[in-house]
Amino acid sequence: TGLVTYDVGFVNTASCKSAITYIDGDEGILRYRGYPIAELAEKSTFVEVSYLLIYGELPTPEELTRFEDSIRRHTMLHEDLRAFFNGFPRDAHPMPVLSSAVSALGTFYQDSLDPFDQEQVEISTVRLLAKLPTIAAMAHKKSVGQPYMYPDNSLSFVENFLRMTFGYPVEPYEVDPTVAKALDLLFILHADHEQNCSTSTVRLVGSAHANLFNSVSAGIHALSGPLHGGANQAVLEMLGKLHESGEDPKAFMDKVKNKQDGVRLMGFGHRVYKNYDPRAAIIKKAADDILEKLGQNDPLLEIAKGLEEIALADDYFVERRLYPNVDFYTGLIYKAMGFESKMFTVLFAIGRLPGWIAQWREMMTDPETKIGRPRQIYTGEAERSYPA
Ligand code: CMC
Repeated sequence: TGLVTYDVGFVNTASCKSAITYIDGDEGILRYRGYPIAELAEKSTFVEVSYLLIYGELPTPEELTRFEDSIRRHTMLHEDLRAFFNGFPRDAHPMPVLSSAVSALGTFYQDSLDPFDQEQVEISTVRLLAKLPTIAAMAHKKSVGQPYMYPDNSLSFVENFLRMTFGYPVEPYEVDPTVAKALDLLFILHADHEQNCSTSTVRLVGSAHANLFNSVSAGIHALSGPLHGGANQAVLEMLGKLHESGEDPKAFMDKVKNKQDGVRLMGFGHRVYKNYDPRAAIIKKAADDILEKLGQNDPLLEIAKGLEEIALADDYFVERRLYPNVDFYTGLIYKAMGFESKMFTVLFAIGRLPGWIAQWREMMTDPETKIGRPRQIYTGEAERSYPA
């Protein structure tokens, strides 16, 4: 069996080779397929970025149109899947609803489960991209007790999702272009991040030759944790509590530094970035712009900025190289758009989906891939006899 390396949390272990996303954590650099994240954020769209991540190159205008059209064709859910949502309690968190519905998709599309059949992989790719926003919107509608909305395929990807989430069947829904543009930007910024916890989960499950739906469903579960995607909800709850209690931010930060009750500054720190997360820089600016455009003056934004200011000047954070990560300011934008905090991590999942798919596909076609199977250092009892 050879020498086993002990690497808790895989801090120094590369589990695969990948040509999709490049991160330099010391410099704060992030590129998808070689393109700097800031350029994509400014010039591209989420659907185009999805194509780039999955197929390796930016699409030509014709390729993009074809890709958008094929996604449009698959936005509806099977009617029987609608019934599925009714089985959950009204106060169910939308993340497990999302992951359950994604695994359930595999039962409706048994014709596209073979991970090694290129045509089947293409169709399940498009089905997932098209249906996840519909599922997400239905999970939201279920939680607020409002009627489900069918997709409207005359709209763009993001507009359609906004209408299914916030619209009503009885009246036309007018998409706010500021909100649509901001959400598209946030989806781009979340679209991939190399071998993070959920993506590694998607790869690990897929390495056993599990189908794309089941692999992505597992990734959604991993994302739900507060140390990963769940942090965006946790940040807003943290800011909300500080606002309501009127607690002095300095006193709160002392608690964080003393690790009192295990409290962490949510939305801060990153396994790879030991510098400002380039996504957080873009999002911080977007938060200012969007709140202003929407005419909102959220006191939580000031609290967040105040906490950041304290942190960046404090030895505890400086020594540990802890900076705001992607989740620190996103919740404030989602809130301004009208999303309740339970939906924040669902939004992260919609954004991350093309990355999961691209990584799963890359793994499936990599001849070096093996089933993921870490080793351990056994610390239990030596052999002993069952009592007579
Ligand atoms: N607040 C206070 N202390 C922190 C924080 C934080 N947010 N993050 C790390 N530390 C401390 C930690 O206590 C440790 O200190 P010490 O050396 O004294 O034991 C040191 O910094 C190193 O932290 P770590 O936990 O060993 O680092 P990690 O790479 O294992 O964890 C992390 C990375 C993101 C899980 C962690 O920074 C964290 O829990 N942050 C808060 C949750 C969060 O914002 N998560 C979102 C991550 S980014 C996007 C995403 O994946 O969703």
